[in-house]
Amino acid sequence: MRKKIGIIGAGHVGESTAMYLAERNIADIILIDIIEDMPMGKALDLTEAGPIRGYDCKVIGSNDFGDLKGCDIVVQTAGLPRKPGMSREDLITKNADIIKNCAEQVKKYAPDSMILMVANPLDVMTYHAYKITGFPSNRVFGQAGTLDSTRFRTFVAMELGVSMNDVQALVMGGHGDTMVPLPRYTTVSGIPITELLPEDKIKVISDRTRSGGGEIVKLLKTGSAYYAPAAAVASMVDAVLSDRKRVMPLSAYLSGQYGINDLYIGVPAVLGANGVEKILELNLTGEEMELLRKSAGIYKDQLKVLGY
Ligand code: 2OP
Repeated sequence: MRKKIGIIGAGHVGESTAMYLAERNIADIILIDIIEDMPMGKALDLTEAGPIRGYDCKVIGSNDFGDLKGCDIVVQTAGLPRKPGMSREDLITKNADIIKNCAEQVKKYAPDSMILMVANPLDVMTYHAYKITGFPSNRVFGQAGTLDSTRFRTFVAMELGVSMNDVQALVMGGHGDTMVPLPRYTTVSGIPITELLPEDKIKVISDRTRSGGGEIVKLLKTGSAYYAPAAAVASMVDAVLSDRKRVMPLSAYLSGQYGINDLYIGVPAVLGANGVEKILELNLTGEEMELLRKSAGIYKDQLKVLGY
């Protein structure tokens, strides 16, 4: 039997995720939304692209959470996006109710699945879903660092005029203004960027990465980014379903690592069939550690808004 992926929310991120995953042809996809008929329309449209694009997985739309039954992994995209001028954190209370409802449905219909959170504020919503479902922490994680790192990679490649494929980058911390791009762990075919770019250029690129989501919101005016977020999600789902043991930065539950306890935040981890299989603890410098802990402090405070 094929594996099954659930995607909750058939907005831009959900539909783009469905498209990228259909093209990988690794599992059947159920696309769920509460808007009547809309997910069915998008799923049928995607299915009809299959003969040309060369995939034959099922892509099914539904208004019924009961169709999550049998899902191996559920991607949670439903939630309000940012409007220009809003931070991801402005969405806390609005999205917490949506996440609660969806997490309860996942627990009811797909109790053995994993949850990959995409809704913002990402790290807080991932924690919320972890608490609501009571799933073990390896089965609940958030997409963030992979998106932030792909932005960092892109900006480095643009600055150096080299292929994006040769740039590897690491961004840790929360998915917000306090994220921590790490130039020391960012390389072009193994060459640290600290040897290729002056400090002031690296700072400009790091700052642009931190505000990369906001840059897109400002340009789109009516929503937030979706192609890069969806591409990041698809690569993470593939890592799990194909048991790839990929090393990816993601929002993971920390229980003492990096001196941080009972919090979801972006760290490098091994992602495979068992979800978050290992959290990698790097030898951060004092300054890097301080930035990570500062980011953690912000999210601890935000969790208090939800009564945690
Ligand atoms: C972003 O960074 C929407 O949070 C998402 O673009």
